[in-house]
Amino acid sequence: MPRTLEIEGLELRIFPARNDAELAAADRLADLAGERARRGLSCVLGLATGKTPIGIYRELVRRHRARDFSFGNVETFNLDEYWPIDLKARGSFHRFMHEHLFDHVDIPRGKRHVPNGSVPAAEIPKQCRDYEDAISRAGGIDLQLLGIGRNGHIGFNEPGSDAASRTRLVELTEETVNDNRADFDDPSKMPTHALTMGIATILEARELLVLAFGAQKAGIVRDSLRGPISPRLPASFLRIGAKDRKVTVFLDEAAAAGV
Ligand code: GLP
Repeated sequence: MPRTLEIEGLELRIFPARNDAELAAADRLADLAGERARRGLSCVLGLATGKTPIGIYRELVRRHRARDFSFGNVETFNLDEYWPIDLKARGSFHRFMHEHLFDHVDIPRGKRHVPNGSVPAAEIPKQCRDYEDAISRAGGIDLQLLGIGRNGHIGFNEPGSDAASRTRLVELTEETVNDNRADFDDPSKMPTHALTMGIATILEARELLVLAFGAQKAGIVRDSLRGPISPRLPASFLRIGAKDRKVTVFLDEAAAAGV
């Protein structure tokens, strides 16, 4: 059983081990999609990449294969993608999503959205507007899954991001480039920019499920939850309006060490 704690309307669940948190997160996603399917409704999930959600996707794939769970009513929107990037390149979030989830489950084609990092510069503003429009047309995001970058970024909203920001092109910080370099075949060719949902886009989701695991996240988790709410630490924005929506933070004991 996890320990629970409340901070300014955010509910923290601190699990003995990472795997327990991953199973509980998979439960939440599956419960929400199942409950909406029973009412004949679609379920719109905001998805994240990075190491943090991999275990959740693994568990959802396992359940789908065990015929325990269908994604037939699910529509997904990913947070971000590098730019410019070949969508099939190792390191692209498009490829990540196919490898870890899309290729193994039954989310209908046309209902899986990842910002298109292969468009030329001139098409970026339209692409970003279209992404926001597609989210609105789907009825908004029911549940957004989120990890936290080591510098406190959410999606690719790096320190300095505005609380009112929407889907846009951003420049990555040196720290983020260094953290993610190893995901690329040729690390020297790692993109220095990305397309990301904005802070305001993320905060419009009706429910946020934030995850962080391991001792290397303890400092940033503490500062995001206990420090000042500031653009210097985009994850601290998760506390804005947290009383008005459901915001749950799943941690393992190592990541919770500072809270
Ligand atoms: C990535 C993504 C974020 C993610 C974060 C943490 O690059 N853009 O959405 O939450 O950085 O990554 P990880 O889960 O690997 O620690």
